[in-house]
Amino acid sequence: MRYVVAGALLRERAGGGRELLLAQRSYPPEVAGLWELPGGKCGPGETRAAALERELDEELDVRVVAGAPLTEQVRLREDLLLVAHWAELVAGTPRAVEHQDLIWVDAAELAALAARGALVPADTAWLPELTVALDVR
Ligand code: C5P
Repeated sequence: MRYVVAGALLRERAGGGRELLLAQRSYPPEVAGLWELPGGKCGPGETRAAALERELDEELDVRVVAGAPLTEQVRLREDLLLVAHWAELVAGTPRAVEHQDLIWVDAAELAALAARGALVPADTAWLPELTVALDVR
């Protein structure tokens, strides 16, 4: 089994509450323009945590430490499983190196994007877990 690992980065929003980082895909055409948790494929022999830390360095130019996995996993293909981990930002400010754009969203903004079909379909599996994390005060 190969893995694609995506990162859920949270931060405190000025004025209260939390927000989640989403990245807008630029390829392939089926998902270009849609928002996702940034990440990518694990290399051979690479742990999921190491792959996430490498991918977010490459894609966002940040140093993160991978934390616990989210519960939901999504079978993308017979041999490819999409997983997500919470990630802690330790250095840098995210910038869109490979994506079209980045946004930080609260629970209501995440729900609004989902409602208009603006999330990468597979990533909607994490909506309940992400919403709970964003709603915690
Ligand atoms: O980002 P990358 O192209 O390496 O992702 C590999 C596969 O995983 C693609 O099919 C992509 O659509 C999918 N993916 C996803 N959700 C993410 C990250 C990747 O469905 N958050």
